[in-house]
Amino acid sequence: MSVATEICAPLAVLGHDVQVPLASGEKVGYAALDYAASSPALQRVWDDVAAYAPYYGSVHRGAGYLSQLSTDLFEQSRRTVAEFLDLREDDQVVFTRATTDSLNLLAAALPAGTRVFAFETEHHASLLPWAHAGLEVGYLRAPRSRAEAVAALDAALAAAPEGPKLLCVTGASNVTGELWPVAELAETAHRHGARVVLDAAQLAPHHRVSVRELDVDWIAFSGHKIYAPFGAGVLAGRADWLDAAEPYLAGGGATRTVARETDGSVAVEWHTGPARHEAGSPNVIGAYAIASACRALTEAGFDALEARERQLVDRLTAGLAEIPQVKVLSLFGTDSARVGVLSFVVQGWNSSHFSAALSAEYGIGVRDGLFCAHPLVRTLLGDEDAAPSECGAPEPSLPGERSLNAIRVSFGAGTPDEHIERFLAAVRELVTDGAAWNYRNEGGRCVATVQIDRGRREG
Ligand SMILES: Cc1ncc(COP(=O)(O)O)c(C=O)c1O
Repeated sequence: MSVATEICAPLAVLGHDVQVPLASGEKVGYAALDYAASSPALQRVWDDVAAYAPYYGSVHRGAGYLSQLSTDLFEQSRRTVAEFLDLREDDQVVFTRATTDSLNLLAAALPAGTRVFAFETEHHASLLPWAHAGLEVGYLRAPRSRAEAVAALDAALAAAPEGPKLLCVTGASNVTGELWPVAELAETAHRHGARVVLDAAQLAPHHRVSVRELDVDWIAFSGHKIYAPFGAGVLAGRADWLDAAEPYLAGGGATRTVARETDGSVAVEWHTGPARHEAGSPNVIGAYAIASACRALTEAGFDALEARERQLVDRLTAGLAEIPQVKVLSLFGTDSARVGVLSFVVQGWNSSHFSAALSAEYGIGVRDGLFCAHPLVRTLLGDEDAAPSECGAPEPSLPGERSLNAIRVSFGAGTPDEHIERFLAAVRELVTDGAAWNYRNEGGRCVATVQIDRGRREG
């Protein structure tokens, strides 16, 4: 007998009742459908942070009561994150600023001569740190199925020279939302003696993640994408390479001793463990907020959260499939498993124009652009030779222009059904009737100027 998974209600998030002005001047409740860029804070995280704030004190630096309390809270947050990620006994949790910082830290810590492998479909944060740190990188072409991804890695590693190797792979794409075969890739990498870092920036907010079960060596994620936007992120995993590396930052907190030598130089003995890479005053509020989010998601239950999200994803994909002008972008097939992240283009529309109309006429916040994954979006748009544009910068946007970028809708644990329904209704209406306003590019932003007098809303 199969037991139906319980579907939870949306979790309470800040901003759920914020009213925003439309181009008409009317106000509507904001539909935040850009969780993949940054998700709203969970009410629970906000409450925990507010309750702690009066007790705030320096971490690892003070003899006073509040410093001791804050230090305990910081170290307890590390343990909560370790539990949330199901880390191995001797894995470390290093608090960073965000995923980008975590992956740059790891890149700087890799043994000399490490060869890194990454699919060209990665977010720039997982694509770029390796060459930037002076490492050799083998870029793997965009696979068109999960099996092809595993086979491509297998072939690349089989042909790789001896020496330390690392695969960096994302768990869920920030463009298509598609899930990557992390466990299979990790198994393949380990068979060839390579290690694996998982970019879980888009996975951790949506899915239970077990480092032990996936058997990845490191994992990175961002607080602000997991409902804890207080400036902290995480790099967690194997201690050996991190302890052997030069500290990421030089400064207080990372040192055991610093002594003047008789020749006038300064001798430093660095810590091992997380402190080695956490120089400077730790962001205790950021770390505590992440721990609070980990607890809140665990208590809500990932089975129920995932079931609810699947329901919204199904509603969204079914609704968009009824609009022939909409083309959903996908590497592995439009019905492949994804988190609540989906990108699309609309025939005859510039994506910046379309996204601006969703905001100005319906109060819906999505993102348009290349989503800091330029090679992937260009591959999906079939436009690999198009002129580059700034990360996050909308392109000149006139109605009917061919789009060189896409529209992304993304959501998560705080999203009510109404936001998805309003979004689908808005897409249908824009595609059928056109925008109700004229738009102009002002300083890189597509803004509504004059209402088109067609009486469509009245009629
Ligand atoms: C898959 C993925 N990796 C890494 C990042 C970088 O995260 P952050 O900007 O928090 O450093 C993002 C951000 O969008 C992402 O989606």
